[in-house]
Amino acid sequence: MNLTITNVKRLGSSERESVTIEDGKILGWNLPEDQHGETVDGRGGTIIPALTEPHAHLREPGQTEKEDLASGLAAAAAGGYGNVVCMPNTTPVIDDPAIIRTLQDKAAALGLARLHVSAALTKGQKGEQLAELSALKEAGAVMFTDDGRTNENARVLRLGLEYAGSLGMVVSVHAEDATLRADGVMNEGEVSQALGVPGNPTAAEAARIARDVEIVAWLHERGNSPRLHVQHLSSAAGLERVREAKRRGLPVTCEVSPHHLTLTDEKLRSFDAVYKVAPPLRTQADADALFEGLLDGTVDCIGTDHAPHTRAEKERDLLEAPFGIPYIEVAWPVMYTRFAEKLGLEKLVDLMTAGPARVLGWPEPSLEAGAPADLLVFDPDTERKVNPATFQSKAKFCPYAGETLKGWPVLTVVGGVVAYSSEG
Ligand code: DOR
Repeated sequence: MNLTITNVKRLGSSERESVTIEDGKILGWNLPEDQHGETVDGRGGTIIPALTEPHAHLREPGQTEKEDLASGLAAAAAGGYGNVVCMPNTTPVIDDPAIIRTLQDKAAALGLARLHVSAALTKGQKGEQLAELSALKEAGAVMFTDDGRTNENARVLRLGLEYAGSLGMVVSVHAEDATLRADGVMNEGEVSQALGVPGNPTAAEAARIARDVEIVAWLHERGNSPRLHVQHLSSAAGLERVREAKRRGLPVTCEVSPHHLTLTDEKLRSFDAVYKVAPPLRTQADADALFEGLLDGTVDCIGTDHAPHTRAEKERDLLEAPFGIPYIEVAWPVMYTRFAEKLGLEKLVDLMTAGPARVLGWPEPSLEAGAPADLLVFDPDTERKVNPATFQSKAKFCPYAGETLKGWPVLTVVGGVVAYSSEG
């Protein structure tokens, strides 16, 4: 049966319209009522394509005390995401086609946000031997990454870029030089010095990107087709390396996370490990530079790096607690509230919908008839406080707790099916 979302406004329009969905696709706008089928009220909200998350840790298999597919994909749908790429730093690591198939089958049965699996670049994410990239691609892997780990062995990364490139696949990197980062748990600078906490210099990120870009340049010049994606850029220096790579016309893309745009190392003065993340929160100057990167097109997309851990783990001492910030449910309201005006709503939507699709080589989402019915309706006006107790995620805490935000999702539709409704 058809589904029609009534009472929604398209970007830039104040007209209330309806969109009818048939067989998972948009059938058309403002169709006669006899074609509507079931109806759901969009409550005057703004309709855009559902968001795409290029970078989330859903913790299956093996770390389900932190998150699992059901909780993570429910959280994503509640956050307005229709498509989610999960990271392979699980237990065991996702380096086996059978794991990909199992995850896909499980996720498909849930009817929440749609899952896309990224696979490890190297066996066990150990950085030594390439995983079976071709078999992983065949099983449905959408990109390769050792995220969570840094690719210390440059030759292995070179081989990975070469091989993945020949398969038309992106290699996505957690760009930090582990020897420079050493035991740093926060940004190295005034705040780490004042607190006496081991720091991680921005040079760790910039130097690693510079190395990886040179590998890409070398392969590119030799007619190979490497595709490097730099994840969760945190620093002005790191961003500058990507900007240069793009000026050189190299096949390099990057993503920035809302937490690096909105929070700084000042937050660590609380010694609260909820702010401990890799790469770390930097300075306001870095956050400002990343924002400039959004404006000038250096940044291709926004990815949250949703990284749930148990509350008990995050309550440990700052030195001992794991790295990672969970907040996929509020990433859109955070970005909308802080940046919709400064950046322009269209640009913001692009960075969180078409941007990730371009990085991954997927068709760009659209609201035209015939396009997949992956849709987000959000309320641009009503303000509400972030209350992590209500999160679908198992991680019921986040750095934005108590903040007043707007832009809250009203409906998330995935493949023509309502995956989230704020009315329950
Ligand atoms: O802070 C982080 N947490 N950064 C990563 O790269 C990995 C992630 C995790 O898996 O918890």
